[in-house]
Amino acid sequence: MLQNGPSSSASGTRTPAVAMLRLLGGFQISQALYVVARAGVADHLADGPRPVPEAAEAAGVRTDLLRRLVRSLATEQVFDFDADRDTVGLGPLGHTLRSDSGDSLRDVALMWMDTHYRPFAGLWSTLHDGVPAAERELGKPFFDWIAEEPDRVAGFSAAMSDLMTTLRQDALDSLDLSGVRHLVDIGGADGTALADLARRHEHLHGTVFDLPHVVEGADPVLHKAGVADRIGTQGGSFFESVPDGADAYLACFILHDWNDEQCATILDRIHRAADPGARLYLVETVLGEGTAPEVATLLDLTMMGMLDGRERVREDWRTLLSGAGFRLDRVVETTGPMCVIEATRTDD
Ligand SMILES: C[S@@+](CC[C@H](N)C(=O)[O-])C[C@H]1O[C@@H](n2cnc3c(N)ncnc32)[C@H](O)[C@@H]1O
Repeated sequence: MLQNGPSSSASGTRTPAVAMLRLLGGFQISQALYVVARAGVADHLADGPRPVPEAAEAAGVRTDLLRRLVRSLATEQVFDFDADRDTVGLGPLGHTLRSDSGDSLRDVALMWMDTHYRPFAGLWSTLHDGVPAAERELGKPFFDWIAEEPDRVAGFSAAMSDLMTTLRQDALDSLDLSGVRHLVDIGGADGTALADLARRHEHLHGTVFDLPHVVEGADPVLHKAGVADRIGTQGGSFFESVPDGADAYLACFILHDWNDEQCATILDRIHRAADPGARLYLVETVLGEGTAPEVATLLDLTMMGMLDGRERVREDWRTLLSGAGFRLDRVVETTGPMCVIEATRTDD
């Protein structure tokens, strides 16, 4: 018999206590997803269902325990588990844990559980003193901690690249780059976004700007995309300065990491670098707008635990921008959870 979870029973029939218990157990589900992602179980099922012992051997884990994990995650739509045949296949969500699917979140599963999971145990303290839980757990601000180990940098950039494809691609697709000759991607990580944009806009030149140890990872991405002749890289901190003279700036998933004062500094650095009339595109969530409000509120929790940032409503964005010499022109909703906030640098 195929065991595949709550979709078969009407969730409306659940008592509030049962629904709450599932929410409370979320930390166990997260860890179960992590271990199957880390063991590459979904990759080993890419060609179809297999006997559980065979899948366990391929993944290098214990058969009896994998069977129990698979059964638990079948109720979450991750696997199809046939108890009679003792086989496991991918359920409706399973391919997102494959490393090579177009909407893979495998690197997010690894990064969140390796870096975000433990800090969240300290959310209680954050609620009282406002210090991000990660800063207390890691002993320093999150991005400083990431910078200490190349493996952390690579893992974080890989997760960002996953999220780029799954959450932000629609926003990048809807960027109006008509007339833009040179685009600077502020906090552009390993260049995934700018490589994609340059591939699709043949006229576009650009610069990936990020911390020196991060932007190092962009060269292979730009070469692989065949755009290294048009897109360069520059290392630095956006709290100091950003590349000047471009006619457009992109800050994708950046300002939500920072508090209002820090955002004002970053926007000021862009204002100083940009000529009057230059365009600024922010790819961010706008609380209360967009197609997946649950993603915006989830990210707001992430910001609370990990950084001093937050998600914002439209008026927050307008205030931040106008305070730094930018006019908010429009907010473009996309088919995904992110919006494109378009602004123009005003005259001094
Ligand atoms: C949430 S990630 C977003 C990356 C990318 N824009 C995306 O959408 O996937 C934030 C980025 O900001 C970069 N960053 C953090 N502090 C920075 C600083 N002071 N100067 C420049 N970049 C910084 C990080 O290295 C990281 O790549």
